[in-house]
Amino acid sequence: MEDHLPQSVRVERRPVSEHESRAANGPDWDRYADEYQATHGTFLGDAGFVWGPEGHTEDELGILGDVAGLDVLEVGSGAGQCSRWVRTHGGRGFGLDLSHRQLQHSLRLDAETGVAVPSVRGTATALPYAPGSFDVVFCSFGALQFVSDIDVAVGEVARVLRPGGRFAFSVTHPTRWMFPDDPGEAGLTATQSYWDRTPYVEVDDATGVVSYVEHHRTLGDWVRLLAAHDFRLVDLVEPEWPEHHDRVWGGWSRTRGLLTPGTAIFVAHLPG
Ligand SMILES: C[S@@+](CC[C@H](N)C(=O)[O-])C[C@H]1O[C@@H](n2cnc3c(N)ncnc32)[C@H](O)[C@@H]1O
Repeated sequence: MEDHLPQSVRVERRPVSEHESRAANGPDWDRYADEYQATHGTFLGDAGFVWGPEGHTEDELGILGDVAGLDVLEVGSGAGQCSRWVRTHGGRGFGLDLSHRQLQHSLRLDAETGVAVPSVRGTATALPYAPGSFDVVFCSFGALQFVSDIDVAVGEVARVLRPGGRFAFSVTHPTRWMFPDDPGEAGLTATQSYWDRTPYVEVDDATGVVSYVEHHRTLGDWVRLLAAHDFRLVDLVEPEWPEHHDRVWGGWSRTRGLLTPGTAIFVAHLPG
């Protein structure tokens, strides 16, 4: 859900490793965090839980169920808005994010709201928790599409969940990868293969250094990844664009949202 592109950056599709993805995305989110929170903070709500640019909230969708009394981990928690919502609903919400600056915003909101989300700096591919620590793990456009070693990341979620635990995550809807990332009419014409998993990469023109990476998985890829780690997929929510919603977020807009899904929310359980 990034929506900035400095002029000195060129866009490519090419393979990138987990190391390269992380080395690019950590500093990128550090640079972008102030603008991200200034632009989207009000929409997200300091203790709000929004699942994607369509604006559907956890209060509306009830994806996690009743979180009261549960241990809940948010992977790619940013400023911790969703986990703060979990805390205001009786859950023990914890955050983890790659970006130091995003976590500074989380501390700022902790102080401003009086609802603190204990958070750590880390990566989705090496969660710093003992096996069976959580009842629920979730990501709202969090780490998953920024990770190259997705099999490792899903395995880590399975490891830290308790038996019967729930994993729910929103990502850019995989079909969006066929279209240019343009909120206008140009974003309605398929120009790329849905099956091309080559990552989206931004490269600093001056230095040649990779500065931002996103990874694409098809719907079938996600189903197989979850099944490989013993998850049972119980829902795939494709939120419709609300009738009166007219907010543009990067490539998400009313123009596109009325015709094509922009967000996919996967909901899966481990055996009890
Ligand atoms: C689009 S933001 C979403 C944050 C929050 N859920 C929100 O709605 O604002 C994605 C977040 O994922 C984090 N992230 C990227 N790669 C990560 C990784 N490998 N491990 C953990 N977090 C990561 C970024 O730092 C960023 O804060």
